[in-house]
Amino acid sequence: MSQRIYIFDTTLRDGEQVPGSQLSTEEKIVVAKELERLGVDIIEAGFPVSSPGDFRSIVEISKAVTEPVICALSRAKKEDIDAAGEALKFAKRKRIHTGIGSSDIHIRNKFNSTRDQIVEQAIAAVKHARTYVEDVEFYAEDAGRADLAFLARLTEAVINAGATVVNIPDTTGYCLPDEYGNKIKYIYEHVSNVHKAIISIHCHNDLGLATANTLAGIQQGARQVEVTINGIGERAGNTSLEEVVMALQVHKELGFETNINAKRLFPVSQLVSEMMNMPVQANKAIVGRNAFAHSSGIHQDGFLKHSENYEIMNPHDVGVPESSIVLTARSGRHALKHRLELLGFRYDKPTLDTIYTRFLDMADVRKEVNDKDLMELVR
Ligand code: KIV
Ligand code: ZN
Repeated sequence: MSQRIYIFDTTLRDGEQVPGSQLSTEEKIVVAKELERLGVDIIEAGFPVSSPGDFRSIVEISKAVTEPVICALSRAKKEDIDAAGEALKFAKRKRIHTGIGSSDIHIRNKFNSTRDQIVEQAIAAVKHARTYVEDVEFYAEDAGRADLAFLARLTEAVINAGATVVNIPDTTGYCLPDEYGNKIKYIYEHVSNVHKAIISIHCHNDLGLATANTLAGIQQGARQVEVTINGIGERAGNTSLEEVVMALQVHKELGFETNINAKRLFPVSQLVSEMMNMPVQANKAIVGRNAFAHSSGIHQDGFLKHSENYEIMNPHDVGVPESSIVLTARSGRHALKHRLELLGFRYDKPTLDTIYTRFLDMADVRKEVNDKDLMELVR
């Protein structure tokens, strides 16, 4: 029996913080409905105290989207929590996500506080949030750089205060996979009431390790992952939803499953990229333009013999229409022959050799040879 991993999508909160990616309420509803269709379990819809527009968006998303839990972010402050409780009033299933810094760096430099005061403020915030909702998630900001014993103490205190989920964010994307996995392991081994809450993972990608760290956390017992479509988010971004979902799907032997309808991954990725003004890098795993494109002769030959030689998943499984063979100066005869046959041209070997020589000359100049170029060549 596979264990269920809950997908908490924060595209509309952490993702939307990116400069130039802000959405109107109407646009956020479109994205939220797509996330619902995709099968995410929790939608973090925004940070209501931050602006009247964000508050309104959470109200409207709560009315328009009914299947996932709708979550609103707050700092560990009464006015933030009041705004979150208010904004969620129409949500069928609701959660307040409140929290405060947990590393000494944040405690000292950001809050000018002490560990003891942080624990008190955290307990008060969770208790206040519980007056609005039964489902309260606590985030221990910058947990990636926090002292382990203090993190365990804070986790235990907020669970006692009524937190149903505790988020252990690597806010600055600092951790290495072993280190992050060990943090989660430590929490399971040192927090006596940990079984009363779900431990959640929230990683940033400053070292390009967000997905690796998230998988390490899952393997140490965390059951919720906080992710965004295309990995958008502050600075180098958040963990990418599609990468985690497909890593768990491709590696079934790990024994985890999600509720995500993977065939919707590519369409949702395109929608978010367009609406949020964030182009997807060509070599982005799963959803990038080149994720299923084969361009070197050796790979193309192997792929044409059997797709499994160079693909670990079927493009249809993630909603990508088809794999592609890109003709460049690195392509071989096999790929050229294949493309010409698709265009309706068959040649004997000597003729194909001649065309191939001319093709290479053309490819050196044009970089990529498309069907129109090929027609010109064979003419
Ligand atoms: O990265 C982070 O720590 C956050 C929290 C607000 C959850 O985004
Ligand atoms: Zn974050």
